[in-house]
Amino acid sequence: MHSLTFVGIAGSLRQASRNKGLLRCCASHLPQGVRMEIADLSALPFYNEDIEKPQSARDLIAQVTAADALVLAATEYNYSMSPALKNALDWLSREPNLAPLNGKPACLLGAGGGMGTARSQYHARQVCVYLNLRLLNKPELFSNAFGQDFDQQGNVQSEALTKQVAQLMQALADWTRLLERD
Ligand SMILES: Cc1cc2nc3c(=O)[nH]c(=O)nc-3n(C[C@H](O)[C@H](O)[C@H](O)COP(=O)(O)O)c2cc1C
Repeated sequence: MHSLTFVGIAGSLRQASRNKGLLRCCASHLPQGVRMEIADLSALPFYNEDIEKPQSARDLIAQVTAADALVLAATEYNYSMSPALKNALDWLSREPNLAPLNGKPACLLGAGGGMGTARSQYHARQVCVYLNLRLLNKPELFSNAFGQDFDQQGNVQSEALTKQVAQLMQALADWTRLLERD
């Protein structure tokens, strides 16, 4: 069984983001044979056809192209996905034939208010149809950013949430290997 690389993209830019914390938790609870990188969106400008593709976009495109699967942390702003996540997907979508994304396995998760980013994740699912990402359906992971599950730095501190994260990473690895056999 060859090894897999996951790339995580979080919809929050802030340092103590719980969604970034979820991705760090993913990266430290991977099944055997899987490694994970977390994309850095901090220097990525808003997509603008008038500007030449900046190095930050080239780096993101290369990182996502090389990934076997994506982990999207869908920070919820005003009942939808945050602009940072949408913008990353927009840059990636401008490559010929959607190359970095086309047919790639992916999963969603998120930390937010009362509904745990459910609305954002379902909007993201709609966008992922066009991008031809092959999203894992289950398990879903909706976590509360404001309870006891995260510490002040945005790190996951609850065992129950850590277990859910580990189960999701296992399911994504299984899904990725299943699709590779297509
Ligand atoms: C502009 C803005 C809009 C928001 N709208 C929502 C929302 O619609 N639903 C929700 O659950 N949380 C909403 N929140 C709260 C975020 O989910 C919360 O700030 C969360 O911690 C953001 O993720 P982060 O910790 O990864 O930055 C909003 C926050 C901001 C800044």
